[in-house]
Amino acid sequence: MSEAPTETTTSVKSMDDIMALCKRRGFIYQASEIYGGINGFWDYGPLGAQLKKNLRDAWWTDVVMKGCNGQLGPNGKPVSIVPVDTSIIQNPKVWEASGHLAGFADPMRKCAGCGHFVRADHLWEILATASDWHSSLLQEYTPIIGDIDSDRLFKWAKTKGKKLAPNLALVKNPEVTMSWLATRVNGQPNVPVDVKELTQHIATEQLNETGLQDPCPRCGGPLGEPAPFKLMFETYAGLTHTEDNKAYLRPETAQGIFINFKNVVDTTRVAVPFGIAQTGKAFRNEVTPRNFTFRSREFEQMEIEFFCHPDDSKAWYTFWRDWRMQWWQELGLKGDNLILREHDADELAHYAKEGAGTADIEYMFPFTAPGYGELEGIADRTNFDLKQHAEHSKTKLDYFDNTRGELAKNGQPKGERYLPHVIEPSAGLDRGVLALLCEAYTPDPDRASGVYMKFHPRIAPIKAAVFPLVKKDGMPDIAAPLAAELRQRFGHLGTIDYDEKQSIGKRYARMDEAGCPFCFTIDSETLEDQTVTVRHRDTLDQERIALDKVGDFLAEKLDL
Ligand code: GAP
Repeated sequence: MSEAPTETTTSVKSMDDIMALCKRRGFIYQASEIYGGINGFWDYGPLGAQLKKNLRDAWWTDVVMKGCNGQLGPNGKPVSIVPVDTSIIQNPKVWEASGHLAGFADPMRKCAGCGHFVRADHLWEILATASDWHSSLLQEYTPIIGDIDSDRLFKWAKTKGKKLAPNLALVKNPEVTMSWLATRVNGQPNVPVDVKELTQHIATEQLNETGLQDPCPRCGGPLGEPAPFKLMFETYAGLTHTEDNKAYLRPETAQGIFINFKNVVDTTRVAVPFGIAQTGKAFRNEVTPRNFTFRSREFEQMEIEFFCHPDDSKAWYTFWRDWRMQWWQELGLKGDNLILREHDADELAHYAKEGAGTADIEYMFPFTAPGYGELEGIADRTNFDLKQHAEHSKTKLDYFDNTRGELAKNGQPKGERYLPHVIEPSAGLDRGVLALLCEAYTPDPDRASGVYMKFHPRIAPIKAAVFPLVKKDGMPDIAAPLAAELRQRFGHLGTIDYDEKQSIGKRYARMDEAGCPFCFTIDSETLEDQTVTVRHRDTLDQERIALDKVGDFLAEKLDL
């Protein structure tokens, strides 16, 4: 997660409130909830499943079927993309070739005090956000200048600290720790001490005279050296659980595309430059799944591998980076909340080489604010993957391009054989849904619900609701057939809700929380002049339109 580049005007919403709404309205539930849940897994309820489908469909339609909505590529031609749907389990050699078996691991550190594991590269983030003892310590000691209030720290160590961080050096042996601190830190007057430095100082120093050690977020004890923790889920394909039958759940959908590159070239009429796209589940045994669905162990990706000539990779990288950013903005992620961030040289993935572009599209989630969390990565993967698979499978994966090469005597190009380079826009569907939920969440004390979900009509799970004002006077007899008619016309896009119970105010409030953009109400005027009330979610404006024009009105609003 990255820091905010500039000061932002966005007010931070409460993640607890958003999660409560998600549960209350049936967007997202904890997986296996009635059994106490399972860490890192989530279930989508009726509204969430449709919201997720709408986002996946928008991606599929705009990227794959409409070829970047008709925008021409840097070669001045339409962008050509074809879809695939590949297996979650592949031959394990795929993961050997891709580098996942050897390298797809997180660095983990084990606490010698309590046995807790912590991800080495997340340690300070976790300490800052989730460690009770750390926050309590900070309350006691707020370092402004290099001066340690030893009385306060002593008191904290012997009381609260003892309970919260039984293995922290300051707590185990306050005298030794404080005398150590006094010489090391107070010995250098007016040197500012930052929080991280202070924590490190007091962590475990009396146990280890030779150097500083990082503290365990749970108990303050000494953390061991980082060791790799493999992220791939293992399973067995076959009757016996032997090494021979060992298989893996895919950690990304991308490899299913690379290993089918030759199939697609041989069996369709695509020509480089072209892309192959796929949506589907990916699995990672994340060490610290957290922040709702942001880091889960089972999640869905929307990935494109775009194959091009090596000379054109820079131009296609820029094209995809900018187009993908524009796409998220058009779905409603706007303003300061969405940024495009080019990677620093030290962030490059194993497949990216220096000079090859890599950028993230990042969203300011309530739990990352004022920083940002990755929504999609756009990477120039060079020819790394095709090369690896060609070598490991001993299959020729190079491409013969008959539009290139020197001109022959007949004036036609002789052709050129090369291994295409790949630009990969790789988006997380669950993270996309989470960003849309956070963005849509709009507190409004003037409404009965106190909040409404301001979804773009295109992705709103409920497209419209039809209500008889009261359940009598023949109103349901008009409302129910109208809902049925709209369902036949718009059902492929989302839900058309029909509800005749409770007061109209309560029904509107429910639709506000569900993010339904339009409610059509049949009332006494309808009986007289065949008009209905349309209620607009965002403005709360009400207008009357003809009953027989409701379908056309909705079609226009949904931009059909
Ligand atoms: N093929 C490249 C690749 O998989 P990645 O950055 O590891 O790259 C791509 O993943 C996207 O998948 C991320 O930008 C993120 O949106 C999503 N993603 C990755 N790990 C995730 C997790 N544990 N939970 C939810 N989404 C995840």
